[in-house]
Amino acid sequence: MSDELIISAKNVTKSFSIGGNKHHIAVNDVSLDMYKGETLALVGESGCGKSTLAKLLMRLIKADSGEIIFDGIDISSLSEKYVRPYRKRMQMVFQDPASSLDPRMKVRDIIAEPLKVWKVCDSKEEMDDRVRELLELVDLKESALDRYPHQFSGGQKQRIGIARAIALNPDLIVCDESVSALDVSVQAQILNLLKRLKKELGLSCLFISHDLSVVNFIADRVCVMHDGRICEMAAKESIYSDPKSEYTKYLLDAISAS
Ligand SMILES: Nc1ncnc2c1ncn2[C@@H]1O[C@H](COP(=O)(O)OP(=O)(O)OP(=O)(O)O)[C@@H](O)[C@H]1O
Ligand SMILES: [Mg+2]
Repeated sequence: MSDELIISAKNVTKSFSIGGNKHHIAVNDVSLDMYKGETLALVGESGCGKSTLAKLLMRLIKADSGEIIFDGIDISSLSEKYVRPYRKRMQMVFQDPASSLDPRMKVRDIIAEPLKVWKVCDSKEEMDDRVRELLELVDLKESALDRYPHQFSGGQKQRIGIARAIALNPDLIVCDESVSALDVSVQAQILNLLKRLKKELGLSCLFISHDLSVVNFIADRVCVMHDGRICEMAAKESIYSDPKSEYTKYLLDAISAS
C-alpha cells in the first residue's frame, strides 16, 4: 500500500426524497481517504448507506454537497462529459453475476464489450488477444469464450464479471457484496482471485460487505458505517482486537454470537 491517495470523500452528503417533503439522509457528512493499492472494506448493516457511498465515489450519482477527489481532481461537480474518463478508471464488480451478465451474449462478447465501448483496441486481433489475456487472469479456460453465462457456475460467472471489470485497467474496483451470493468455499476462491489481481495489477479496491469474516480475509483497513455516517476507520488488525466505537463492538459481538 502506498501513501498516495487514489480517492477521497470530503464531507459528502446525499439524501433521497421519501415522499412529500421528507428526506432520508443516506450518506451524512462522510469523509474518507483511500490509498493506492489498498483494499478498504466498508461494513455496516443493511441500509446504512454503503452502496450509496460507493455510487457517490464512482460518480454514478451526484452528491448534494461535499467533494470527491479522484487522483487529485474534484470530480463531484464535473459534467457528464468531463467525468467520463474517470468512470473508465473505476469499475464495479456486482453482487449477482447472473443478473449482471447479458444471457444472450457469449463470454467473448461480454468481456470485449468495455473494450469496444471505449475503443481501446486498434484491431480485432488485438481485442481477441486482450480477451484471452483477461480470461487467463481470472483462471478461466479458453473454451469459455463461445459459451453463454448460464453454462457457468456462480463462481465462474463472478470470474467473468471480474474479467470485465478489469478489462480497461482500472485504478479502482468497487466490489459491492461481490461474494455474498456464493458458497463459502467458492467465496474463498474468488477472494483469493481478487487478492492476487489486486497485487498483480496494482488495483485499489473498495470492498463492501456485511460479513466480517470475509472482510478479515481481504481488507487492509476497515471502515464501519452506521446510519449514513462513518463511526470507525482503522487497520483491520486493530478493528478486530481493539474496536473503539460502540457500534463496531456491537457488530463484532453479533458475529461471535452467531
Ligand atoms: N435511489 C434511491 N431512492 C430512495 N432511497 C434510496 C435510494 N438509494 C438508496 N436509498 C435509501 O438510502 C439508504 C441507504 O441505502 P444503501 O443502498 O446505500 O444501503 P446499503 O448499506 O448498501 O444496504 P445493503 O447492505 O442492504 O445493500 C436506504 O435507506 C435506502 O432505502
Ligand atoms: Mg448495498
